[in-house]
Amino acid sequence: MMLLLRLPSLSFPFIIFIFIFPISYSIPFIVIHGIGDQCSNHGVKSFTEELINYSGVQGFCVEVGNGSWDSWFMPLQEQADVVCQKVKEMKELKGGYNIVGLSQGNLIGRGVVEFCEGGPPVKNFISLAGPHAGTASVPLCGKGIFCVLADNLIKGEVYTTYIQEHLAPSGYLKLPNAIPKYLEYCRFLPKLNNEKPGQRNSTYKERFSSLEKLVLIMFEDDKVLIPKETSWFGYYPDGSFEPILPPQETKLYIEDWIGLRALDEAGRVHFISVPGKHLGISEADMKKHIVPYLICQTSREDCSSTTKAGFWRMRRGNQRFIPIDNMV
Ligand SMILES: *[C@@H]1O[C@H](CO)[C@@H](O)[C@H](O)[C@H]1NC(C)=O
Ligand SMILES: *[C@@H]1O[C@H](CO)[C@@H](O)[C@H](O)[C@H]1NC(C)=O
Ligand SMILES: *[C@@H]1O[C@H](CO)[C@@H](O)[C@H](O)[C@H]1NC(C)=O
Repeated sequence: MMLLLRLPSLSFPFIIFIFIFPISYSIPFIVIHGIGDQCSNHGVKSFTEELINYSGVQGFCVEVGNGSWDSWFMPLQEQADVVCQKVKEMKELKGGYNIVGLSQGNLIGRGVVEFCEGGPPVKNFISLAGPHAGTASVPLCGKGIFCVLADNLIKGEVYTTYIQEHLAPSGYLKLPNAIPKYLEYCRFLPKLNNEKPGQRNSTYKERFSSLEKLVLIMFEDDKVLIPKETSWFGYYPDGSFEPILPPQETKLYIEDWIGLRALDEAGRVHFISVPGKHLGISEADMKKHIVPYLICQTSREDCSSTTKAGFWRMRRGNQRFIPIDNMV
């Protein structure tokens, strides 16, 4: 408050300095879109722009291959490799960055966190509707060309080599009644979640648990992810389609295969539930559950505290929010 009251008496050059300062010292974020989508589509484009506008930090949508086609048909490990290569080449990200994942994009993002050798450090990971523990159904997609192809592919065996190599979602389709096959033949999620007994890699766990904040946003009316609780790492027990276990009751959490439990016990995981369908986030919820983690600088700050939110003020002219404590 003291600072606010003193602002009008500051000299002109100093005002310029404090307005420019937070922008050049904030770390940027990247958005990784979901299946069937691409960075040039209106939805992802305006979502990314809105986050840039609300936070005042640099943001980029990182594309995989040629967009929606490749998001369906390029295996997830390859998609993660593409993004890994891109983030290493982006000089803006050298000092670290945050990830905002949309749906399937969350698994690519986690692939980058866990597998990307020599990539720039990821600080906060904000996940919207991520199938983190798998999904027991093919994503709904209407009647587009991609869906016709995908439906035909999926009618065959999900865990065959051909499908694993040609259909991205097969990398995280986890059928509770086919767990042995899933563990043996599913190419991506068992590795990402360190699920294979005897093959758990502590490097993946170390990297994942070095995140500063993990924000897991679940949509109350999500009908695309089965079950929607997978957005929080909740899932079915092996061998059965019921009950839906909360994250803390899954083996992944209890035995801490990837460090989710360690992160949670350190108070660094935020389990958020918002109204809406798959990815249907409101502007208010974006400002409440995403933006604070894009402008937060260090692990010592509690980004979600209401006191903190109270210190924001609207920057006149271009509608950006700047946290007041970044100005000093
Ligand atoms: C973001 O801000 C820019 C510049 O003020 C404006 O042109 C653009 O329409 C805004 N975008 C969104 C999605 O709000
Ligand atoms: C996208 O790239 C794939 C090869 O990776 C190609 O088969 C496909 O035709 C391309 N699709 C579009 C729409 O460009
Ligand atoms: C675990 O992963 C790291 C990083 O990819 C790799 O260097 C290491 O060899 C792996 N360890 C085992 C036991 O597979």
